[in-house]
Amino acid sequence: MSVEADIRPGEVAVPLPGRGDAEVFFIGRIRTPWPDRKSCPKHGDPVAGPVCRIEVFEPWTAALAGIEANAEIDVLYWMHSARRDIVRQQPRSAGTTFGAFAIRSPVRPNPIAASRVAFLGLDRGVLLVRGLDCIDGTPLIDLKPLSCPAARSTT
Ligand SMILES: C[S@@+](CC[C@H](N)C(=O)[O-])C[C@H]1O[C@@H](n2cnc3c(N)ncnc32)[C@H](O)[C@@H]1O
Repeated sequence: MSVEADIRPGEVAVPLPGRGDAEVFFIGRIRTPWPDRKSCPKHGDPVAGPVCRIEVFEPWTAALAGIEANAEIDVLYWMHSARRDIVRQQPRSAGTTFGAFAIRSPVRPNPIAASRVAFLGLDRGVLLVRGLDCIDGTPLIDLKPLSCPAARSTT
Protein backbone atom coordinates (compact mmCIF):
# COMPACT_ATOMS: atom_id res chain seq x y z
CA MET A 1 0.00 0.00 0.00
CA SER A 2 1.63 3.26 -1.06
CA VAL A 3 1.10 6.36 1.05
CA GLU A 4 0.97 9.84 -0.46
CA ALA A 5 4.25 11.65 0.20
CA ASP A 6 3.27 15.21 -0.67
CA ILE A 7 3.10 18.09 1.80
CA ARG A 8 2.13 21.64 0.81
CA PRO A 9 3.71 24.92 1.92
CA GLY A 10 2.37 25.95 5.35
CA GLU A 11 1.31 22.44 6.31
CA VAL A 12 2.62 20.97 9.57
CA ALA A 13 3.61 17.34 10.12
CA VAL A 14 4.32 15.79 13.54
CA PRO A 15 6.19 12.62 14.52
CA LEU A 16 3.81 9.67 14.90
CA PRO A 17 3.77 7.64 18.13
CA GLY A 18 5.93 4.52 17.91
CA ARG A 19 3.00 2.16 18.46
CA GLY A 20 -0.78 2.18 18.20
CA ASP A 21 -3.27 1.75 21.05
CA ALA A 22 -5.71 -0.66 19.39
CA GLU A 23 -6.18 -2.93 16.41
CA VAL A 24 -8.90 -2.97 13.76
CA PHE A 25 -10.05 -5.80 11.51
CA PHE A 26 -10.50 -4.98 7.85
CA ILE A 27 -13.91 -6.64 7.40
CA GLY A 28 -14.14 -6.17 3.65
CA ARG A 29 -13.06 -4.26 0.59
CA ILE A 30 -14.75 -1.45 -1.31
CA ARG A 31 -14.84 -1.66 -5.09
CA THR A 32 -15.24 1.68 -6.89
CA PRO A 33 -14.48 3.05 -10.38
CA TRP A 34 -11.63 5.24 -9.05
CA PRO A 35 -8.02 3.92 -9.19
CA ASP A 36 -6.38 6.80 -7.28
CA ARG A 37 -7.05 9.77 -5.02
CA LYS A 38 -7.10 12.33 -7.79
CA SER A 39 -9.89 10.59 -9.69
CA CYS A 40 -12.18 10.23 -6.62
CA PRO A 41 -14.98 12.71 -5.97
CA LYS A 42 -14.44 14.85 -2.85
CA HIS A 43 -17.70 13.55 -1.39
CA GLY A 44 -19.94 10.70 -2.44
CA ASP A 45 -23.31 11.33 -4.07
CA PRO A 46 -26.00 8.87 -2.92
CA VAL A 47 -28.34 9.93 -5.74
CA ALA A 48 -26.23 10.47 -8.86
CA GLY A 49 -22.99 8.70 -7.86
CA PRO A 50 -22.04 5.40 -9.51
CA VAL A 51 -23.07 2.08 -8.01
CA CYS A 52 -20.18 0.73 -5.91
CA ARG A 53 -19.69 -2.73 -4.40
CA ILE A 54 -18.84 -3.43 -0.79
CA GLU A 55 -17.40 -6.95 -0.50
CA VAL A 56 -17.67 -8.26 3.07
CA PHE A 57 -15.11 -10.94 3.98
CA GLU A 58 -15.72 -14.17 5.89
CA PRO A 59 -16.35 -14.73 8.76
CA TRP A 60 -18.20 -11.38 8.88
CA THR A 61 -20.98 -12.02 6.32
CA ALA A 62 -23.21 -13.45 9.08
CA ALA A 63 -23.15 -9.95 10.61
CA LEU A 64 -25.11 -8.65 7.59
CA ALA A 65 -28.39 -10.36 8.63
CA GLY A 66 -31.18 -7.77 8.60
CA ILE A 67 -29.21 -5.01 6.89
CA GLU A 68 -31.57 -5.16 3.86
CA ALA A 69 -34.22 -3.31 5.92
CA ASN A 70 -32.24 -0.08 5.53
CA ALA A 71 -32.53 2.42 2.69
CA GLU A 72 -29.41 4.22 3.96
CA ILE A 73 -26.31 2.95 5.74
CA ASP A 74 -23.31 4.64 7.28
CA VAL A 75 -20.11 3.13 5.85
CA LEU A 76 -16.80 3.52 7.70
CA TYR A 77 -13.60 2.86 5.79
CA TRP A 78 -9.86 3.13 6.19
CA MET A 79 -8.10 5.63 3.93
CA HIS A 80 -5.14 3.34 3.45
CA SER A 81 -3.15 5.66 1.15
CA ALA A 82 -3.34 8.72 3.40
CA ARG A 83 -0.54 10.16 5.52
CA ARG A 84 -1.38 10.26 9.21
CA ASP A 85 1.04 12.89 10.48
CA ILE A 86 -0.12 16.22 8.98
CA VAL A 87 -1.99 18.13 11.68
CA ARG A 88 -2.37 21.45 9.83
CA GLN A 89 -3.42 21.12 6.23
CA GLN A 90 -4.09 23.34 3.29
CA PRO A 91 -7.02 22.04 1.25
CA ARG A 92 -6.47 22.62 -2.46
CA SER A 93 -7.47 26.18 -3.42
CA ALA A 94 -8.34 27.14 0.21
CA GLY A 95 -5.46 29.62 0.52
CA THR A 96 -5.12 28.92 4.26
CA THR A 97 -4.48 26.01 6.61
CA PHE A 98 -6.91 24.17 8.90
CA GLY A 99 -6.42 21.62 11.67
CA ALA A 100 -7.05 18.04 10.57
CA PHE A 101 -10.04 17.81 12.92
CA ALA A 102 -11.64 20.89 11.35
CA ILE A 103 -11.91 19.33 7.89
CA ARG A 104 -12.95 16.00 6.32
CA SER A 105 -9.58 15.29 4.73
CA PRO A 106 -8.47 11.62 4.56
CA VAL A 107 -5.19 12.76 6.15
CA ARG A 108 -5.69 12.35 9.92
CA PRO A 109 -4.10 10.37 12.77
CA ASN A 110 -6.64 7.58 12.29
CA PRO A 111 -7.60 7.73 8.60
CA ILE A 112 -11.24 6.74 9.14
CA ALA A 113 -13.73 7.99 6.57
CA ALA A 114 -17.51 7.95 6.82
CA SER A 115 -20.18 8.20 4.14
CA ARG A 116 -23.93 7.83 4.32
CA VAL A 117 -24.83 5.75 1.29
CA ALA A 118 -28.02 4.65 -0.46
CA PHE A 119 -28.38 0.88 -0.04
CA LEU A 120 -29.49 -0.78 -3.29
CA GLY A 121 -29.10 -4.50 -2.66
CA LEU A 122 -27.24 -7.42 -1.11
CA ASP A 123 -26.07 -10.58 -2.86
CA ARG A 124 -23.94 -13.20 -1.09
CA GLY A 125 -21.94 -10.84 1.06
CA VAL A 126 -21.71 -8.04 -1.52
CA LEU A 127 -23.63 -4.80 -0.96
CA LEU A 128 -24.50 -2.49 -3.82
CA VAL A 129 -24.54 1.16 -2.77
CA ARG A 130 -24.37 4.70 -4.12
CA GLY A 131 -22.58 7.53 -2.34
CA LEU A 132 -18.94 6.52 -1.90
CA ASP A 133 -15.83 8.58 -2.67
CA CYS A 134 -12.88 6.22 -2.14
CA ILE A 135 -10.14 4.51 -4.14
CA ASP A 136 -10.91 1.04 -5.50
CA GLY A 137 -9.77 -1.53 -2.92
CA THR A 138 -10.18 0.72 0.13
CA PRO A 139 -10.50 -1.41 3.29
CA LEU A 140 -13.91 -1.53 5.00
CA ILE A 141 -14.02 -1.19 8.78
CA ASP A 142 -17.74 -0.98 9.67
CA LEU A 143 -21.34 -0.75 8.43
CA LYS A 144 -24.06 0.85 10.56
CA PRO A 145 -27.78 1.49 10.07
CA LEU A 146 -29.05 4.97 11.00
CA SER A 147 -31.01 3.44 13.88
CA CYS A 148 -31.51 0.02 15.49
CA PRO A 149 -34.45 -2.24 14.46
CA ALA A 150 -35.82 -2.18 18.04
CA ALA A 151 -35.93 1.63 17.99
CA ARG A 152 -37.67 1.61 14.57
CA SER A 153 -40.42 -0.81 15.69
CA THR A 154 -41.52 1.52 18.53
CA THR A 155 -41.99 4.60 16.30
C1 LIG B 1 -12.52 14.34 1.45
S1 LIG B 1 -12.45 12.60 1.75
C2 LIG B 1 -14.08 12.33 2.39
C3 LIG B 1 -14.26 10.93 2.90
C4 LIG B 1 -15.56 10.67 3.64
N1 LIG B 1 -16.73 10.89 2.81
C5 LIG B 1 -15.64 11.51 4.89
O1 LIG B 1 -16.24 12.58 4.84
O2 LIG B 1 -15.12 11.08 5.94
C6 LIG B 1 -12.57 11.88 0.15
C7 LIG B 1 -11.23 11.96 -0.55
O3 LIG B 1 -10.31 11.08 0.09
C8 LIG B 1 -9.34 10.62 -0.85
N2 LIG B 1 -9.30 9.15 -0.75
C9 LIG B 1 -10.23 8.28 -1.18
N3 LIG B 1 -9.89 7.02 -0.90
C10 LIG B 1 -8.70 7.08 -0.26
C11 LIG B 1 -7.83 6.09 0.30
N4 LIG B 1 -8.13 4.79 0.28
N5 LIG B 1 -6.68 6.53 0.86
C12 LIG B 1 -6.38 7.85 0.89
N6 LIG B 1 -7.15 8.82 0.39
C13 LIG B 1 -8.31 8.45 -0.18
C14 LIG B 1 -9.79 11.11 -2.23
O4 LIG B 1 -9.00 12.23 -2.55
C15 LIG B 1 -11.25 11.53 -1.99
O5 LIG B 1 -11.62 12.58 -2.85
